[in-house]
Amino acid sequence: MKFLTIFLSFVTFCQPIVIKTPLIWKRSQLIELLSHDEWHEHHEEYFISKISWPRFNSVITQHATDYSDVEYFANITIGTPQQHFLITLDTASSNLVVCGISCTNCGDKQKFDNASSSTFVHDGRPWNMPFGRDHAKGVQGNDTMRFGSEGSQQLVVPRTIVDIADYIPKSFLNYKNDGVVGLAFTSISVNGVLPPLINAINQGLLDQPLFTVYLEHRGLADNVYGGLYTYGGIDTENCAEDIAYQPLSSASFYQFQVLGLALGSYSIRRQYQAISSTASGFIGGPKTITNALASAAGAKYDEDGDLYWIDCDAHPAELEITIGPNTYYVEPVNMMIRTNATNNQCLFALFEFESGGFGPSWVS
Ligand SMILES: *[C@@H]1O[C@H](CO)[C@@H](O)[C@H](O)[C@H]1NC(C)=O
Ligand SMILES: *[C@@H]1O[C@H](CO)[C@@H](O)[C@H](O)[C@H]1NC(C)=O
Ligand SMILES: *[C@@H]1O[C@H](CO)[C@@H](O)[C@H](O)[C@H]1NC(C)=O
Ligand SMILES: *[C@@H]1O[C@H](CO)[C@@H](O)[C@H](O)[C@H]1NC(C)=O
Repeated sequence: MKFLTIFLSFVTFCQPIVIKTPLIWKRSQLIELLSHDEWHEHHEEYFISKISWPRFNSVITQHATDYSDVEYFANITIGTPQQHFLITLDTASSNLVVCGISCTNCGDKQKFDNASSSTFVHDGRPWNMPFGRDHAKGVQGNDTMRFGSEGSQQLVVPRTIVDIADYIPKSFLNYKNDGVVGLAFTSISVNGVLPPLINAINQGLLDQPLFTVYLEHRGLADNVYGGLYTYGGIDTENCAEDIAYQPLSSASFYQFQVLGLALGSYSIRRQYQAISSTASGFIGGPKTITNALASAAGAKYDEDGDLYWIDCDAHPAELEITIGPNTYYVEPVNMMIRTNATNNQCLFALFEFESGGFGPSWVS
């Protein structure tokens, strides 16, 4: 289980509204590829962004989805009448991106048809986002975007910039989502456009300028309830009352300082910059440290697949992460991912992440 409450910095009180949208859990692409024995063929493009960690102040969104194990999906709609999309809510990027009706390589992803939306406003500015060696591109539109499914309680955000793709990287066809909603800050948004949630806050649509993320642990299940996003308030159903605050070291990603990590007999105290990425179920960090943590857990590195494996019956210690004055414990059940690929071997949810000297060194 992963809890995350994020506080944005602008306060505009208007109608007090708290909106909850359920998440949908689908078996990740990683697990699918492993079960069909296709992982070795694909893992390089899957983790490709390791080579291309973004430079600040340039085009940097969406990298998270490249190496991530995207499992949590949510419904949104765009336009009037509402067009439906299954998207990834991503705290490590800041744009709303979906395929457009004129996309030639978007496969069977839902495509946004601007012509059939009465609230669509022409914008027309082109955008381009690099993803590893490939990229996505298209033009911007401007329309009403709604968090949540039609017929349920929705957060309605009028006049939101939609990045309508006419080309996406081939590897995106492996993912089950139709698009991405970036929840991070404007400073890392492609073309500097206002991200949907900040747009909602600026329009006074939420009670408080914050959202809460609750990601539920699911095993090999597919297409089931996966947790909850709460916009405008704290998720009192799933969060305990004691809330710890940690200032962001940069309002670009949700970036903060980590003071140390430990697992069993291994521990390191050192200041790292880390970012929170809801698009990733894995924890990425410098190879020497992920190796040491994995080895303290009894997990083994599989060089061909670039993954750590652990016996599903093993009982490793909890992973300890020190942030500010607090230490957070990640239970083994949340670090060990069952796959039906091999003989009782579970994935251990760490991966090697090279920031190349730019940006944060840990992703969680
Ligand atoms: C297990 O693997 C097979 C293919 O080998 C696949 O059809 C099946 O869906 C997988 N089951 C689960 C629960 O992942
Ligand atoms: C998401 O939308 C689909 C239809 O587009 C619907 O079948 C499904 O129940 C929705 N899921 C949730 C969690 O609202
Ligand atoms: C709608 O999208 C098409 C391409 O998909 C584009 O040619 C047209 O200009 C768009 N309309 C507006 C109003 O932006
Ligand atoms: C969308 O278009 C409206 C009307 O032209 C404009 O007022 C608004 O600023 C645009 N939205 C964004 C986020 O730029």
